[in-house]
Amino acid sequence: MKCPKCQFENREGVRFCEQCGAKMESECPNCGATIPLGSKFCGECGHNLTLPSEQPPKDLSFDEKLDKIQRYLPKGLTEKILSQRNKIEGERKQVTVMFCDMAGFTALVEKLVPEEGYSVMDKVYEILIHKVHDYEGTVNEMTGDGIMALFGAPIALEDAPQRSIRSAMAIHREMARFSDRIKEERESIPPLKMRIGIHTGPVVVGTLGNDLRVEFKAVGDTVNLASRMEGLADPGTTYVSENTFRLTEGFFLFEALGEKQVKGKKKPASVYRAIATSTRRTRFDISAERGLTPFVGRERELELLLDGFERSKSGRGQAFSIVSEAGLGKSRLLYEFRKAVTGEDVMFLEGRCLSYSRGIAYHPVIDILKANFDIGETDRDSEIREKVIRGLKILGVDETTTLPYLLELLSVKESGIDTIHISPEAKKDRIMETVKRIALKGSEIRPLILAYEDLHWMDKSSEDVLKYVLESIPGASVLMIFTYRPEFVHTWGSKSFHSQITLNRLSNRESLIMISHLLGTENIDSDLEELILEKTEGVPFFIEEFIRSLNDMKIIEGEGGKYSLAKGIESLTIPSTIQDVIMAKVDSLPDGAKEVLQTGSVIEREFSYEIIKRLMAFPEQELLSHLSILKDSELLYERGIFPQSVYVFKHALTREVAYNSLLLKARKKIHEKIVIVVEDLYPESLGEYYELFAYHSLQGEDWQRAYRYNREAGLKTFSLSAYEEAQKYFEAALEALHNLPRTRKWIEKEIDLGFNIRAALFPQARHEEWVKRMRDAELLAKQIDDDARLSNVFNYLSNFHWIRGECLKAIEVGQKGLDLARRAGDFSCQVATIFHLGFYFHTIGDFPKQIELHQEIRKIVTGEAVFQRHGMASVPSATARSCLALGMAELGDFKLIERIGQEAVEIAEQVRNAFTLVGVYVFLGMAYLRLGKVKLALQLLEKSHQTCLNSGVRSLFSYTAGSLGYAYLLLNEPSRALIIVEEGVREENLEAAAFWISHPLSDWK
Ligand SMILES: Nc1ncnc2c1ncn2[C@@H]1O[C@H](COP(=O)(O)OP(=O)(O)OP(=O)(O)O)[C@@H](O)[C@H]1O
Ligand SMILES: [Mg+2]
Repeated sequence: MKCPKCQFENREGVRFCEQCGAKMESECPNCGATIPLGSKFCGECGHNLTLPSEQPPKDLSFDEKLDKIQRYLPKGLTEKILSQRNKIEGERKQVTVMFCDMAGFTALVEKLVPEEGYSVMDKVYEILIHKVHDYEGTVNEMTGDGIMALFGAPIALEDAPQRSIRSAMAIHREMARFSDRIKEERESIPPLKMRIGIHTGPVVVGTLGNDLRVEFKAVGDTVNLASRMEGLADPGTTYVSENTFRLTEGFFLFEALGEKQVKGKKKPASVYRAIATSTRRTRFDISAERGLTPFVGRERELELLLDGFERSKSGRGQAFSIVSEAGLGKSRLLYEFRKAVTGEDVMFLEGRCLSYSRGIAYHPVIDILKANFDIGETDRDSEIREKVIRGLKILGVDETTTLPYLLELLSVKESGIDTIHISPEAKKDRIMETVKRIALKGSEIRPLILAYEDLHWMDKSSEDVLKYVLESIPGASVLMIFTYRPEFVHTWGSKSFHSQITLNRLSNRESLIMISHLLGTENIDSDLEELILEKTEGVPFFIEEFIRSLNDMKIIEGEGGKYSLAKGIESLTIPSTIQDVIMAKVDSLPDGAKEVLQTGSVIEREFSYEIIKRLMAFPEQELLSHLSILKDSELLYERGIFPQSVYVFKHALTREVAYNSLLLKARKKIHEKIVIVVEDLYPESLGEYYELFAYHSLQGEDWQRAYRYNREAGLKTFSLSAYEEAQKYFEAALEALHNLPRTRKWIEKEIDLGFNIRAALFPQARHEEWVKRMRDAELLAKQIDDDARLSNVFNYLSNFHWIRGECLKAIEVGQKGLDLARRAGDFSCQVATIFHLGFYFHTIGDFPKQIELHQEIRKIVTGEAVFQRHGMASVPSATARSCLALGMAELGDFKLIERIGQEAVEIAEQVRNAFTLVGVYVFLGMAYLRLGKVKLALQLLEKSHQTCLNSGVRSLFSYTAGSLGYAYLLLNEPSRALIIVEEGVREENLEAAAFWISHPLSDWK
């Protein structure tokens, strides 16, 4: 028996070689029995041992397949995903889903023996998985005859939709090759083709398994629609939904297939077939294609580049790094620079790193070479070879030492590299040397500009080349320009010939120039202008995308040449293009930092250290380190001195995106906790935080607090005469109340909130709206037999009759209210009703009766009650006094007018409620007019009209205008009077104040 290792001739039957100790037995592949080496058949089962041993292919279990997926995942990605595991769970994400199925799978399987079928499918899976991973997607599921892959989840990716289509194209290409190969072996097999469907939409990420499989909690239509697209696709094609199409338009050629009925959807969906990649590869290319917004600002930066160019022309090589966040205009500046030097005799070569090219060695370098040798996308290998040889000749570069490397880089078959036997390191050195030589030789012919874009996506080998070339340029006519985002840190140290240009955000003025250009007009509503400025904060890319999405969503409209918001901004969502850019950055943060950012986003655009500390469970040192990561990555900046620091989101949109990525449930918890933390932190000054509490408790659905704080915030805001805002708070309080158990107290609160809302609506002249509330309140008050509240309702209803000019009816209902108030012993309601009744009598010219009632107010309302509203929009003790003065004046009873007027002004000016001030000034003004004190009257009337203009008191505007105009008329200034009165009788103003157009001698109903 010969030993297989040392060839020693052993005795028969030994188990180990007697010379070298090697094993002399083997195992039967069929039955597992131990058999001596060299046997031809197994002594146990008779298996022919001379046949090549072949493991029977077996069907992989699901877990085994997933394990396989794992093994193929790009290096580092697994760790990255798993490290964020708990954080990702429950996040809302925008994701691109790709379904990929083999067409005619069953038919194929029928043609093959099972083993063959499995091995074909295994190979197919391998192709699919590889091609998905090449573009940083993950395979989420293996279906019977294909896969479901995700791009942008679990980790957000910039350009996810674009990557998915590139991956789909790579799959089709690779499958065609594979199919050809199989066909060579077995002709009867039909061609293997995949159907691919893609859709982009929101999902809520659920748990994440060890195998990186993402469960979805809420998928809505997203996954479904992707699968439907796949179902529609013809074999060998990729169909994408409208969403995906919009996000990748320009990067690919598409065929619009029109609308197609999709199972499970009412409306048909638009479908597009992705045909081929276009020559445009970056977002900037697409913008340029669409038509660039005229260039604004950046004069100094452009000047610096031009200056550098001048120096490099004279043989003093220069390098510049243009650095900024995404979308600030690096590529644009480069483009403008290129334009500026077009007239010059210069070679301008550009290379780009792409978001999915980090794994592709020498990507930007190859770009530059292609540009240098003028190689086009469709050039065949032979043409490329020719062009390179010709190019090298012109440059005077030796062909033998460089050509194989160049052809290898340019993926030309038979580059000749196989015949050169050198180590990979040496090969790399030769490549670097070759590139450098080409650059330097080229610059001897004419000045050379080498621009490398987006180094933050650069592969390692290109970085080495760049560094190497950079070292050699100081004495050459070479200008190197790099662009990158701040996360890239270059490794070439400081060099005297290298400078950095940091792009800042555009100023408001510059942004406005862009905005007006994009909208095609300078006539833009100030609200809209402010909204765009606020959301986009001087980032040109955001400005363009934001306006585009406003347009697409029909949120703005241009009527009569003026652009304004057509819908409420509630319907506004962040364009996915912007969202992807931001989310990719947020996802690249380490664990805890991301959590801090998300929690902070729930608080507000800015949050204090004190609050975040209490909200998060981190120890101080850890929290500080997370915060400093967030600062370093320029997502937050810090104000104030620790520990009083406040952290501010550098960009409003970052906050929104981080906030939106949180699941509702998680957000709610944080909102709820914020209120409790702040209550606890500042127990002495809760009043300062009412608005903050109101918002967070409502979002946190802490209904008790939400009711309380929204009501408080409403009252606080009302006292500042901000009527619209106050109304919103009251409405929110009502919403909170509706989520609490319905008891008698509850109903009382609901009625009272109705009164609050009325008070806020009244000055805005929104009478129809508040009267509806009163009718509801009437029913509720009757339901619980609450006379006091019912009397209030009557009081308000009487007021409505009066507004409509039904004074007699108003008096009747008012009287009813007064009786009820007296019976219920409700003081405030009596005050309010008496006050109103007085008004009605004044209106119909029954001045004695009015005076009697308003004098009663003056008598019974004393002490603190003088300064209270008693459920009304104005303070009755002040307004009643001014009205009293006017009633007296009407009767020619001038004795007390000045004293009473003085009292009225003092009260009103102390309370500082706009509605009260306007009323007091205007009635007194009119009284002084009657007195003949026109100058004094004019002062008061001016004040009332001004206050009216400056605050939201629309219901008194016509009256103040009429009164002021009248005063100017008496002063013999008719033209001035006319301007004011004309404004007062403008239709919308009259509408708001119809009740003042009355005369005591009218025919009253
Ligand atoms: N100064 C400017 N004036 C007018 N438009 C500008 C200006 N700067 C940038 N833009 C426009 O804003 C968009 C984004 O700019 P650009 O692509 O140059 O940003 P970037 O900094 O290169 O972003 P990224 O980091 O994503 O590559 C482009 O459409 C560009 O034309
Ligand atoms: Mg760019």
